[in-house]
Amino acid sequence: MPYDQIAPPARLLMGPGPISADPRVLRAMSAQLVGQFDPAMTAYMGETMELFRAVFRTGNEQTFLVDGTARAAIEAALVSLCEPGDRVVVPVFGRFGQLLVEIAERVGAEVHQVQAPWGEIVPPERIEEVVARVQPVVVAVAHGDTSTTMCQPLQPLGEICARHGALFYADVTASLGGNPFEMDDWGVDVASAGLQKCLGGPPGSAPISLSGSAVRRVEGRRHVELGLRTDQDVPRGRRIASAYFDLAMIMDYWGKRGLNHHTEATTMLYGARECARLVVAEGIDAAIGRHRLHGAAMLAGVGGLGLETFGDAEHRMNNVVAVRIPDGVDGESVRRAMLADFGIEIGTSFGPLHGVVWRIGTMGYNARTDAVLTTLVALEAVLRVAGVAVVAGGGFGAAREVYDDAFAGSLS
Ligand SMILES: Cc1ncc(COP(=O)(O)O)c(C=O)c1O
Repeated sequence: MPYDQIAPPARLLMGPGPISADPRVLRAMSAQLVGQFDPAMTAYMGETMELFRAVFRTGNEQTFLVDGTARAAIEAALVSLCEPGDRVVVPVFGRFGQLLVEIAERVGAEVHQVQAPWGEIVPPERIEEVVARVQPVVVAVAHGDTSTTMCQPLQPLGEICARHGALFYADVTASLGGNPFEMDDWGVDVASAGLQKCLGGPPGSAPISLSGSAVRRVEGRRHVELGLRTDQDVPRGRRIASAYFDLAMIMDYWGKRGLNHHTEATTMLYGARECARLVVAEGIDAAIGRHRLHGAAMLAGVGGLGLETFGDAEHRMNNVVAVRIPDGVDGESVRRAMLADFGIEIGTSFGPLHGVVWRIGTMGYNARTDAVLTTLVALEAVLRVAGVAVVAGGGFGAAREVYDDAFAGSLS
């Protein structure tokens, strides 16, 4: 039975990601394929590496893409850095810290968690206490954890890792491009991301960067695939437990040697390259400033409606806000009405926050004035129908004021 060609409904994705992709990224992704070792392809790969060095703010030669969604690069990092029995410390303040625990455990590491309640960050002193006692090989943390909207300061953790000789992995999937991140200055050894948040692309490609120390660790476990191995490729160390996520082999593929590994996801590479190109063209600081502005407008707007927000205000991510569902309101039916009546998606929540908060994102292509104001006006209408006594025009007015102040500031 023939189906019609795909024609998704018009949506404004204002959840915690994915967000509506930048049309320029989608256009780049509609370009025709070239062969894996076509000079055009290898040139695009080199350009993609260079562009992502700028986005991560690093001089790391080994900056490339892992094919798959953001968690593909998380798995690649942890399975390549950690051997069974290695000690790993994970500060946990939400679902994505828990994901790091789970992946490290599956790799066979001995995992030590340092927990904080959802809605807070983990105080660095508590992390240092555990790192000093455990002496881990790796400290792994989620920078911005979208499940709680908190952003863990990374610079103190970089200093802690340097003092105790641990490698430092940061999951910057949800924060990169919308919140300050200084890979080299903060001493991060491995960072990985996705495209579908502040970078304005679709899910499916995971940029990653490795410092010299991380590369040495991974290279110490280099086992070239049997079918490609030459006499010079003497296997070293304990073999990485995944063939697909073996960063030593992926580095050989992206590096000068160009040794075949997977078939690069050409279309995703076009998209990832365009995401990075757009952020670099805008300027990294300007992109972060744009997320700060629209995040502040959304925050002011939900406050202006008379709604409460969740979590430690001092450590909130720029690009997503958790809004408490008013008493007596069915959060899911509000989300359904936002989608049905306005074509706007806002986010639900996980674990202890499920049914307690909505998560509203302002990121990537949707970190825009019209997207923020439209969402606030729609939310007011839907909440009014649900019987909530919201402040008439309060969301639009408060957000508008933030924009007016920013505009006045930019003129002064
Ligand atoms: C902080 C963080 N890490 C990892 C992920 C997983 O990303 P993906 O679903 O692209 O694998 C997400 C997705 O929301 C995230 O917010």
